[in-house]
Amino acid sequence: MSAFHHLFRRSFDILVKKNNSLNFIHLIRFSNNSSRKEWKVLGLNHIAIATNDVNKGSDLFRDVLKLKTSGSEALPEHGVNTVFVETSNTKIELLDPIGESKSPIWSFLKKNPNGGIHHICLEVDDIYAAIDDLKARNIRVLSDAKVGAHGKPVVFLHPKDCNGVLIELEQK
Ligand code: CO
Repeated sequence: MSAFHHLFRRSFDILVKKNNSLNFIHLIRFSNNSSRKEWKVLGLNHIAIATNDVNKGSDLFRDVLKLKTSGSEALPEHGVNTVFVETSNTKIELLDPIGESKSPIWSFLKKNPNGGIHHICLEVDDIYAAIDDLKARNIRVLSDAKVGAHGKPVVFLHPKDCNGVLIELEQK
């Protein structure tokens, strides 16, 4: 059950307990039925792994698992270096922090010194409609849309509202 459903269900139950008027329930249902723009998820764009060194990290994928890997690219505005690994149906994004840049990846590695899965990225057809809709459903969106690793707008959703997983949304 999503955070929104949970919240809605809970407030709904409280209302039912407090007030048995059917009209009141209809009113609540009606107010939930807004005219927000439609949007949808188009697929899994990538899984991101934080590592101490993207070049060392990519050896496994290139030399052992025989996958195609990109060269490393620095994204100073995000405080990270990236390498992309291609598989037949999705990508794996390796990330390491540039120096002690205090980027989210740097903080993640402080807590997980061996690295680990950092986020998953879902591609959406309309990121701005998604942001409006998710906010209205009380799912925390961590910033405004910013240009991400592929030169397209991205946002991150709070892990506490997403089953403990940091989710990135990327505009198709
Ligand atoms: Co990403």
